[in-house]
Amino acid sequence: MAATEPTLAITRLFSRKDALNESRLEAAHEPASAAPGEVLLRLDRFALTTNNITYAAFGKAMQYWDFFPTGQPQWGHMPVWGFADVVASGVDGIAPGERFYGYFPIASHFRMQPGRVTARGFYDAAAHRAKLTSAYNQYTRVQNDAAYAPELEHYQMLYRPLFITSFMLADFLEDNRFFGARRLVVSSASSKTAYGTAFCLRDLDGIALTGLTSARNRAFVEDLGCYGSTVTYDELASVPVDEPTLYVDFSGDESLRARVHAHFGDSLVYDCFVGSTQNTGFLRDLHLPGPRPEFYFAPVQIRKRNADWGPQEVNRRFNAAQRRFIDHARDPAKRWLALVEERGFEAAQARIARLAAGSGAPQEGYVVVVG
Ligand SMILES: NC(=O)c1ccc[n+]([C@@H]2O[C@H](COP(=O)([O-])OP(=O)(O)OC[C@H]3O[C@@H](n4cnc5c(N)ncnc54)[C@H](OP(=O)(O)O)[C@@H]3O)[C@@H](O)[C@H]2O)c1
Repeated sequence: MAATEPTLAITRLFSRKDALNESRLEAAHEPASAAPGEVLLRLDRFALTTNNITYAAFGKAMQYWDFFPTGQPQWGHMPVWGFADVVASGVDGIAPGERFYGYFPIASHFRMQPGRVTARGFYDAAAHRAKLTSAYNQYTRVQNDAAYAPELEHYQMLYRPLFITSFMLADFLEDNRFFGARRLVVSSASSKTAYGTAFCLRDLDGIALTGLTSARNRAFVEDLGCYGSTVTYDELASVPVDEPTLYVDFSGDESLRARVHAHFGDSLVYDCFVGSTQNTGFLRDLHLPGPRPEFYFAPVQIRKRNADWGPQEVNRRFNAAQRRFIDHARDPAKRWLALVEERGFEAAQARIARLAAGSGAPQEGYVVVVG
């Protein structure tokens, strides 16, 4: 580094891989320039939901720690969705000042090596990411994103990564004719991904939607109005077993899964494992009677629909559904979501610890502004 070259003060937030409530900040100084083939980005803002805790919890099993290596085996970069601005660019077609939406490490600045640069955006072509799920390697240039609106940035960061799962999960279930089920029982029904799915399916004839939730979140789930009935975990035995039933599992709670299999018995036609809000372990075979739980991973259905419909049509349908959902969710009269805006990395550390402890409120959407 030349003595006169300007430097940047960089802050990185590292999470302890075996204790996700623990994190530490690391400071460094680096040149403020970008090498040829590289862009230097500044993270402006990002969202935090339970899904980010799950990325970290599944960091090893699903390779989420591998996107943004820290070089320190015990510590990882928890991935988040947000907006970042280009500070310096050594890449044709990407200019300083441009804003991108995507999947980032929690750090004030980071470098990427764009490949496949188009008007839509770029892929981070860094060698270590080539083997990882490509949906996460994609960065969208906001000025050319049909779904982007500056006043909706916070809703986009919070909901888009979750609603893509909701939308594609609803499509996957419909595509498979609900595996013959006429009742869907959804755990962690108060989570954004779960109620996004219910929102997509709520008007479907012949399908009853039952939301399973904790006692503290029961009223919230009832008020959402997209589940036909709401039952607390303790009341599972009250759900009728007279219909073919599909379990959509966002909680990952193993004892609940065992109770669901025992309660529904032969009526249980499919067990769809989507997430793990209550468990930091990945899906294990518990040798339960009935259907074997199947892991649902949104990028798999996206790939199928890209092949069936073409990527443009997938985007068109998704953008239209997402807009309906966001407009519904941000309507103050509905009371689905109150944005909670926090500033800086210390606030992010405290929020992550609280989310890891399960003390988030479903009606709150946490957004961290870095700058
Ligand atoms: N497979 C995929 O492709 C994919 C993609 C996106 C998201 N997901 C999964 O979807 C799930 C929901 O994520 P989200 O970001 O939508 O969640 P969120 O909105 O932050 O969900 C909050 C709800 O999750 C439950 N919960 C969270 N932490 C808990 C804890 N420690 N103990 C007990 N309950 C807890 C509570 O629901 P109740 O009181 O109703 O139980 C809480 O109201 C996550 O597991 C995530 O990984 C999967």
